[in-house]
Amino acid sequence: MRFYHHKPMHPHNTLALQARADAFACVTNDDELLEALAWARAKGVDVVVLGQGSNIVLAGDVQALVVQQAMRGIERLDASNGDVIVRAAAGENWHELVQWTLQQGYYGLENLALIPGTVGASPIQNIGAYGVELQSVLLQVHARQIADDKLIALDNAACQFSYRDSLFKHQFKDQLVITAIDIQLSRRSNVNISYPALADFFNEHPHIEPTPQAVFDAVVSIRRSKLPDPAVEPNAGSFFKNPVLAAEVAQLLLGKYPHLPCFPQVDGSVKVSAAWMIDQCGWKGYRTHDVGVHPQHALVLVNYGSGSGAQLLALSSEIVTSVYDAFGVALEIEPRIYGLKP
Ligand code: FAD
Ligand code: EPU
Repeated sequence: MRFYHHKPMHPHNTLALQARADAFACVTNDDELLEALAWARAKGVDVVVLGQGSNIVLAGDVQALVVQQAMRGIERLDASNGDVIVRAAAGENWHELVQWTLQQGYYGLENLALIPGTVGASPIQNIGAYGVELQSVLLQVHARQIADDKLIALDNAACQFSYRDSLFKHQFKDQLVITAIDIQLSRRSNVNISYPALADFFNEHPHIEPTPQAVFDAVVSIRRSKLPDPAVEPNAGSFFKNPVLAAEVAQLLLGKYPHLPCFPQVDGSVKVSAAWMIDQCGWKGYRTHDVGVHPQHALVLVNYGSGSGAQLLALSSEIVTSVYDAFGVALEIEPRIYGLKP
């Protein structure tokens, strides 16, 4: 396996930000992963795990060994009572896994179509879209500990999933390389079309029966109409999380702003739309230097060419301040930031 030095990172992040990694290795199997971890330990350098770079902001050079997880393989482990268990290696492309499961007649991932990135990154923020989150199908996460190579397996409860969050962002932050996940899918169709944009789609197309394939197609079509393609307009999807507010705080806010889109959560808290608030503050379509807020979606920040991570973060700070001043709500950045000077 080859170790690269001062590796240009712009092809490895969907914001196409210019930065270099001190060292870089792409691992395609377990032996290569072990070699990379041993190399980092021997040199005394940190390890940063990378998938397809669709949820990172490079604010500067990365002073670490960047280990790109590229292990491939999808297998069916077990089948019983109409359910199947599928193991997917961490370097598989998420959307290709969704397509593969549908082709096999295994259902449960259709709402999560077209989310960029790898399978290995999916548990990190408990990827979610159109009313479904990874946690609804995830059985186990398999990983190697960076410190001592030890293989561990975490079940669903151990991952402590919540909206855009998991243990991998806290106790296990930078401690593990996820190598595979096991998911439980169904051979019976049980579609979820409750998410407003999806419900609208099937109301507007009453002749389309909401089969898993139709839900997949609808999600792909809605996403293509709403979100810019990073290959054309480099971005990292939603730049901010939707704030989750205590019920009484949300009630006060909704009293003042009845049009604020909101999603009540099972625990009584309320998730409110960051895009709507940013939009109300007039940011949509704003551009400074080579960075800006996408004209069609206020949650998406774009690098229009030679924008830097620092410029993007400066813009995001201005947005956070203006939303806080207008609504009293603090926005949190969703992607992970690397390369900040200490
Ligand atoms: P990377 O960006 O490479 O890494 C993200 C983080 O995960 C880093 O901290 C990295 O260290 C860690 N990581 C990655 N792989 C591993 C591993 N194997 N082991 C340990 N740590 C690892 N997200 C959603 O949830 N829902 C959406 O609808 C959605 N839409 C998007 C649309 C667009 C256009 C874009 C660009 C992004 C969108 N995202 C969405 C965000 C992104 O797709 C997800 O966060 C995805 O899981 C990131 O995968 P990745 O392989 O690119 O991870
Ligand atoms: N809206 C505005 N202005 C805009 C864009 C949207 O007012 O510029 C309003 C819409 O009208 C809608 C509401 O905001 O009422 C929500 O919009 P949307 O359905 O597009 O969802 P979102 O909250 O912006 C979230 C996720 C997406 C995910 C979609 C679909 C977060 C941070 N983002 O976006 O995930 O695909 O829901 O489930 O939770 C990502 O994480 O990168 C991502 C794209």
